[in-house]
Amino acid sequence: MAAGEKVFAKCKTCHEIGPNAKAKIGPPLTGVVGRPVASVPGFAYSETLKKKAGEIGNWDKEKLQQWLTDPAKYAGGTVKMMFKLAKPEERQAVVDYLETQK
Ligand code: HEC
Repeated sequence: MAAGEKVFAKCKTCHEIGPNAKAKIGPPLTGVVGRPVASVPGFAYSETLKKKAGEIGNWDKEKLQQWLTDPAKYAGGTVKMMFKLAKPEERQAVVDYLETQK
């Protein structure tokens, strides 16, 4: 198993990924690299993330790493994702993994 897939085990409590991924506590993350922020139809995103979406634009690998460092700080308010990834090498590995899941 690749390093990033191992790290993704921590995200699986809340997120599904892959061709048939559905919303759980968080939105499905299939194809999230390049996807507009807060754009999964029907998912109840926080007001903070919805408001910030236009400013952030589309998720890229750099933005995803900043989000994972501290979601509330990155979005500038209260968000629904109660999770942070402290280790830079884990953030990098998981974002590389996300990029492979289109
Ligand atoms: C405790 C549950 C939980 C965990 C664990 C979690 N997330 Fe989330 N995540 C959420 C929720 C809820 C949201 C929606 C945030 C909002 O609307 O404020 C979210 C949003 C996101 C988004 C934005 C998606 C979009 O459509 O714009 C990304 C990217 C993301 N999470 C990645 C991850 C990754 C990668 C991990 C693991 C390293 C992870 N999350 C771990 C609950 C979680």
